[in-house]
Amino acid sequence: MANVLYINSSVRTSGSLSRQLSAEFIAKWKAAHPADTIVERDLASRPVPHLSEEMMGAFFTPAEQRNAEQAQTVKLSDALVDEVEAADIIVIGAPMYNFSVPSTLKAYIDHIARAGRTFKYGPNGAEGLLKDKKVYVFTASGGVYSEGPAAGFDFLATYLRAVLGFLGITDISFIRAEGVAMGEQAVADTLAKTRRSIEELIAA
Ligand SMILES: Cc1cc2nc3c(=O)[nH]c(=O)nc-3n(C[C@H](O)[C@H](O)[C@H](O)COP(=O)(O)O)c2cc1C
Repeated sequence: MANVLYINSSVRTSGSLSRQLSAEFIAKWKAAHPADTIVERDLASRPVPHLSEEMMGAFFTPAEQRNAEQAQTVKLSDALVDEVEAADIIVIGAPMYNFSVPSTLKAYIDHIARAGRTFKYGPNGAEGLLKDKKVYVFTASGGVYSEGPAAGFDFLATYLRAVLGFLGITDISFIRAEGVAMGEQAVADTLAKTRRSIEELIAA
């Protein structure tokens, strides 16, 4: 039995392809693994706050030395870290906004990238502390970034691969609905391709 953490970040509650495709994956996953638990986190409807000076101060104060206000301040971040630590599988719906992830997803990552909890520095440099997790990222973008002239502008997949890798998560599959601003046929083609990928990933 596995714990699945399912994160969405598209601001669209209807018509969102990253939501639709990740939901199709989750539905098929549930059917194939009925005993697994699914924990949902919607960063669009329930965004986490941006980091603040107070939060940074609380993060970098050892737990036993925090005052009551700092202990309260760190609670959300601690809960988010607990949640991601408990997950065996993480499914992320991530639309491309201005060549990268939505700012809500970036704000979430700022809460879970915590020195001493999800990474640490030692004599050999940084070590990610989130081990043995599998991540599926469902992206949607108006243009095409997996190949071609815009490939160098993909700061979504490159960023997620870098930051998740920094935290110790290296087993990441990207399932891309791309070119969705390039006409109906392009949408139909990328959806068909994406759904084939979902079937393959579920069967794997
Ligand atoms: C604020 C905003 C920024 C966007 N920036 C990009 C971009 O940089 N590159 C791109 O190819 N598409 C961009 N798009 C198009 C979206 O990636 C595309 O509509 C995608 O389907 C959105 O995901 P969703 O369907 O899950 O809502 C942008 C859309 C919005 C609303």
